[in-house]
Amino acid sequence: MSGHVLDASGIGVRFGGVQALDGVTLSLRPGEVCGLIGPNGAGKTTLFDVLSGIRRPDQGRILLDGADVTRRSPVWRARHGMRRTFQRQQLFGQLTVADNLVVAQEWRGGGGGWAADLLAAPTRRTHERARRARATEVLRACGLDGIADDYAGTLPVGRARMVELARAVADGPRVLLLDEPASGMTDEESGHLASVVRHLAAEEGCAVLLVEHNVAFVMGLCSRVVVLDLGRVLAQGTATEVRADPRVRDAYLGAAAP
Ligand SMILES: Nc1ncnc2c1ncn2[C@@H]1O[C@H](COP(=O)(O)OP(=O)(O)O)[C@@H](O)[C@H]1O
Ligand SMILES: [Mg+2]
Repeated sequence: MSGHVLDASGIGVRFGGVQALDGVTLSLRPGEVCGLIGPNGAGKTTLFDVLSGIRRPDQGRILLDGADVTRRSPVWRARHGMRRTFQRQQLFGQLTVADNLVVAQEWRGGGGGWAADLLAAPTRRTHERARRARATEVLRACGLDGIADDYAGTLPVGRARMVELARAVADGPRVLLLDEPASGMTDEESGHLASVVRHLAAEEGCAVLLVEHNVAFVMGLCSRVVVLDLGRVLAQGTATEVRADPRVRDAYLGAAAP
């Protein structure tokens, strides 16, 4: 075993004349927070689509816990512990914030997982209680406990993004893919975001990959940073290493680099 929970190798995606991804290899270990940065059009969202199963790559292979999932559906991957959020948030607007989290846990079986569902066959009510309790706990961690009963469709963008994060982590994912999670957030909200991500990684062993334009945020949160440019991995390393790389400065960070 490689020790990687997620292992993508040689990923290629072509849209007509555009090679959006070209031989991208990227692995995540349990408990690691990895940043993915790069200029617009570099292929970050396309890579997320491929990892989460929304788009099948033209080349390459994706392993989840060592098993080939390249041809598995997004739902299958989600049931096996992979979660993502989207660049544009997608909540159930007609449900309350708390109910968005309860529903998310039902996707996977919730309250002890599908094995507990089968073996112990406890009542629906017991499940419901366990899911509500977990929802309350996660909402508190995300600084959202005050709006648990608000309808998700009425929230300002930063709040909605935080609810999307809360929903993605509600049933304890093992791999979490976050596409621009801090966009539209206040400093206080992005502080909550950072602490929730740190907790998930350190305490629950979740592997996190996050795309974010706020370079300072990425550098502060991620133990490793991967730089994509024109569909290829241009550089990777610690925040310090990546920041000092002249190719990264040219392609992305530009003259204003810290
Ligand atoms: N559905 C699509 N159809 C055609 N081209 C696409 C599509 N999605 C992305 N692309 C192209 O693929 C490249 C990578 O895009 P994307 O993954 O969205 O980059 P990023 O998220 O890094 O900004 C860009 O050149 C973009 O125009
Ligand atoms: Mg994108």
